[in-house]
Amino acid sequence: MKIIVTGASRGIGRGIATALAKEGFQVGALARSSTLLDELRTEIEAARGICHTAVCDLRDPSATQSAIASLREQLGGVDGLINNAGLVIRKDAFDLSMEEWHALIDTNIHGLFYATRAVLPWMREQRRGHIINISSISGKVPLPGGSAYAATKFAVTGFSLSLLQEVREYGIKVTVVYPGSVDSQSHRHDADAGHSWKVTPEEVGQACAGILRTAPGTLISELEIRPLGRPPKP
Ligand SMILES: NC(=O)c1ccc[n+]([C@@H]2O[C@H](COP(=O)([O-])OP(=O)(O)OC[C@H]3O[C@@H](n4cnc5c(N)ncnc54)[C@H](OP(=O)(O)O)[C@@H]3O)[C@@H](O)[C@H]2O)c1
Repeated sequence: MKIIVTGASRGIGRGIATALAKEGFQVGALARSSTLLDELRTEIEAARGICHTAVCDLRDPSATQSAIASLREQLGGVDGLINNAGLVIRKDAFDLSMEEWHALIDTNIHGLFYATRAVLPWMREQRRGHIINISSISGKVPLPGGSAYAATKFAVTGFSLSLLQEVREYGIKVTVVYPGSVDSQSHRHDADAGHSWKVTPEEVGQACAGILRTAPGTLISELEIRPLGRPPKP
């Protein structure tokens, strides 16, 4: 299967791309950092996997359309899109600047929509496809100290659940994933604290592989993935 992963240069997206490639999926990796994408491709190819890359800022709708089209061409088709790219800013509504508010909305909502719109016509035409949107537990329950971030993740949840109802008649699956604490740099309040209790980015990728492998007439519409352990006591 040919799967495009956004935000694949670091963190969860990199873990998803790596895990999918290990399991035999062909990966199209998208992010802004060409250096990190090159490193990812080299690593996947060294392990005999397939990875193509496209550099793109998802806040730009026409650049997103071109980058997704380029990945589709390099892959020779597209079976799935994993909308993972996201900006995490944990500030309350008193402290968040207007620039930060717009950056959160532009990346987490607009960018996700632009990428989705790029693949939908192809998926409708081939009457098959799978869109996996990475929301968050904060897209289901309040996040004090991160109200704007939570607003964007609630938007991802609402969009995903509604989109499924719009596209299922065309054979397109939509899954929304709610990760709990994942060991990426973005969610580290304290860089020195232990993070080994968290879900690893690759484990999120393994969960995505399972979601993508459901039988043709079946889908997992929502998946919550949390660590079994708890943070160490201070
Ligand atoms: N970590 C957690 O505990 C956790 C929990 C729940 C949900 N999530 C969600 O999981 C997703 C990934 O989070 P993470 O922790 O892995 O974050 P991260 O380590 O900061 O990685 C974010 C990724 O998104 C890309 N990105 C950001 N802005 C972009 C833009 N404008 N255009 C293209 N790519 C962009 C980044 O690549 P470039 O900088 O190279 O563009 C990077 O690859 C996010 O949607 C986040 O909300 C994370």
